[in-house]
Amino acid sequence: MCGIVGGVGKIDFRNYLINGLKKLDYRGYDSAGVAVLDHKHLFLKKMPGKVEELSACLPASLPGTVGIAHTRWATHGEPNERNAHPHISMKRKFALVHNGVIENFKAIKKDLFKHGYGFLSDTDSEIVVDLLEYNYHGDVLAAIKKTMGELEGSYACAIIHADEPNRLYFMKNASPLLLGKGEGANYLASDAGAMIGLTESFVDLEDGDYGYLEPDGYAIFADGNPVEREIVARSKDFYDDDLHGYPHYMIKEIHEIPSVLRRLLDNYLDDGFVFDKNMLSMIKMASSVHFLACGTSFYACKVGVKYFRSIGKRSGASIASEWAYDPYDIGENPFFIILSQSGETADLIKCQKVINDNNLPNLVVTNSKGSTLERKATFSSLLYAGVEVAVASTKSYLAQIAYLALLVASLKSDGRVEGDIRTLISSIEKILADDSKIKKLAYERKDATDAFYVGRGYDYLAALEGALKMKEVAYVHAEAYPGGELKHGPIALIQKGTLVVGYITDAEKEASSRNNFVELASRGADILVVSDEKYTREGDLLSFPAVPEYLGVGPSVVISQLLAYYLAEAKGLPIDKPRNLAKSVTVE
Ligand code: G6P
Repeated sequence: MCGIVGGVGKIDFRNYLINGLKKLDYRGYDSAGVAVLDHKHLFLKKMPGKVEELSACLPASLPGTVGIAHTRWATHGEPNERNAHPHISMKRKFALVHNGVIENFKAIKKDLFKHGYGFLSDTDSEIVVDLLEYNYHGDVLAAIKKTMGELEGSYACAIIHADEPNRLYFMKNASPLLLGKGEGANYLASDAGAMIGLTESFVDLEDGDYGYLEPDGYAIFADGNPVEREIVARSKDFYDDDLHGYPHYMIKEIHEIPSVLRRLLDNYLDDGFVFDKNMLSMIKMASSVHFLACGTSFYACKVGVKYFRSIGKRSGASIASEWAYDPYDIGENPFFIILSQSGETADLIKCQKVINDNNLPNLVVTNSKGSTLERKATFSSLLYAGVEVAVASTKSYLAQIAYLALLVASLKSDGRVEGDIRTLISSIEKILADDSKIKKLAYERKDATDAFYVGRGYDYLAALEGALKMKEVAYVHAEAYPGGELKHGPIALIQKGTLVVGYITDAEKEASSRNNFVELASRGADILVVSDEKYTREGDLLSFPAVPEYLGVGPSVVISQLLAYYLAEAKGLPIDKPRNLAKSVTVE
């Protein structure tokens, strides 16, 4: 779960590689490294820590003709210098950066060991560079082809050969890799964002592709034959990741929510709904709609399930990592909806393969055009949320909810959804216009070690996402519980001062939820009730302007995002890059 970047030709390598890595560190930030070949001399620097730390240790310029770089989320081997990429082959002929996991690395390592290879790192990646060298008999492409035949697992690799200063080789299977076409230089990276500013023309590689870049051209092969791949344009506007004066991306992205929702309305409404007609009729004909996702996107799916059930459609949601191992029968004629901000989550890619192998229809809803999931989908829809940099997902969750509300409304031709989403936008705008009370409440609770998030129905779904934010960015042990479940165990953990965040956005469940809060308060809990103003009662600490009940998760979650953000700020935590996490989980 790493990011790779590389280029060949007339390039300011120091700027390109370091800036590229900064754009990719959402994929992991345990260690970073660069290698640049200048004639016969290979400059190599790698170290544990973030890209900024590496940058501080580099010379002012990195002259050369071909270069590669890597940012790592440690899988095999702790994050230290030895395990950082690039890796160099034993005879120093090859340098390589790798994103992915080599599943048969132990067997290959054993074999290479018998052939006299020794190893410097504990990584699975190091064996790839040595295997390339072992398979090399004067033709790098042939060595790559043979090596790909021997590797099992996922990989996107950029490879330098010491005797070929004007070529950058690559190979790809099940990890993302794109080429960028420049002027007098060509580039590659795990994500277009790393190359933006240098080019807006990209080639999305397919699994099994390998080849090379030269300053004025490139060649792609599959199974030993040259192949053509489409050149696609991606505008730099999408990749705007300036902080625009905000102290962190997380708070910037929360403040972008109203404009994201407006953009979503513009894209999916134009004198009626703008959805693929064929897709809508397949959904209508399907016996059930089944959602798959991970993390925050999974909690958005759970809202989607309720939306579909509200129009009489059988619907369910599974966590991708579980479903992939056990793709149980979900009826004769299912329709799958995969939600993924990044479009690159490994467990979802695995699920989608099962779905596609069974010729079943799937819609991918993603924020990332050209992503692996989007390219392999039967249908795809974009969230138009703009690049989301903070590891904790915020604006994408709101875009996912609103997208699903629009999709379901289009299935029943209910135009009221537009007004409902505009009400949601204005409610969120009012929350954002003055969040000083949320900040104060969060700062007062900065010593909280445990929190329970409680609600019923939609409010339980808001609780799930609220608790996740609190864990991710504020490192508070937080659990979400349906109100009715508290007495089946968790209430034993409530003691004086235990933080409880409760949600009330629904008339039908209000009385039962309030009873739960009273029960918790009498056991000493510190109860912080978040309510829609229609149901606000004395003592509720946070109230938001009314929205239709099916959209109540929106303001509830925005308030929860802000609570987690300010609590993390009060604790002085690295909000945008919490420990051990990555924005995109590209290994299973
Ligand atoms: C990681 C991120 C989460 C995200 C989840 C699913 O865990 O840290 O913020 O919700 O992956 O990512 P996806 O890109 O598939 O929505």
